[in-house]
Amino acid sequence: MPEPQYSNPIRLLQWYAESGIDEAIEDQPIDRYAVAARVQPSTVGPGADDRRQAVPAASRPLPAALAQPRSAPASSPVSSGVTASSVPASSFDGAADARRLAASADSLEALRAALAAFEGCALKQTAMNLVFADGNPAASVMFIGEAPGRDEDRQGLPFVGRSGKLLDRMLAAIGLDRHAETADQAAYIANILPWRPPGDRTPTATEIAACLPFVERHIALVKPRYVVLLGGTAAKSLLNRSEGIMRLRGRWYEHPVEGLDKPVSCLATYHPAFLLRSPKEKRNAWRDFLELKSKLGTPV
Ligand code: URA
Repeated sequence: MPEPQYSNPIRLLQWYAESGIDEAIEDQPIDRYAVAARVQPSTVGPGADDRRQAVPAASRPLPAALAQPRSAPASSPVSSGVTASSVPASSFDGAADARRLAASADSLEALRAALAAFEGCALKQTAMNLVFADGNPAASVMFIGEAPGRDEDRQGLPFVGRSGKLLDRMLAAIGLDRHAETADQAAYIANILPWRPPGDRTPTATEIAACLPFVERHIALVKPRYVVLLGGTAAKSLLNRSEGIMRLRGRWYEHPVEGLDKPVSCLATYHPAFLLRSPKEKRNAWRDFLELKSKLGTPV
């Protein structure tokens, strides 16, 4: 008689992998053995308190450090009459810790180390690698995406998968290359989140708020002439805006960053992954890139 699959852990894992179950999908890993041990003795009566503790980490209250409201000012658009508004109040400040750690970093290496030591974002536990940045930090322009995907998580570098290939082609079309040596031909690339959300789900407000102080510090250390925000998550989180990317794109925003003596000019545009799904929007993205190219050609 064939052995049932679930009695052989190796075959069970193979079956999971073949079925596409290859990612953890909770914010925190769950020790199922501990949960089972707590629940098994009986389903009613004594022990109910123990069972109440067996709540998935995702539904437990957030650590105090993540539970303060954000108060960043919205950035002002330069070329539009759009009114500033706030990111939803459900966002949290992973802040006390994040801001302190980020502010203490006085170089990119120190910022990377600070992120590696940061325990305020649970994505760190499910990701394979910290994805800090790629490209030339001396570049005049810094591109900021949403979060690493599977390929980025495996390689520890941003935008190396399909959308990264498209981004590289878009950069090349305006004479940029992430590894170029001269500032005006180079690009520096990072993300709002340095860890991959399981299954590439959309980052939560809590995760974004916890990582944002590091993004702001990253900008302050790189001191780019321009920042290009790729997609709605990057644009809305950094600029603290509630409008969608359809409204935000194609405009420049002056964004104040602590540690910089003047606000940095940010251009919002579409995310390359969106362009792969909606190729007809490429012409608008092309317009944005041409505008960036013309600004880069202008002396400071
Ligand atoms: N999408 C992003 O936003 N960032 C990456 O690094 C890869 C895909």
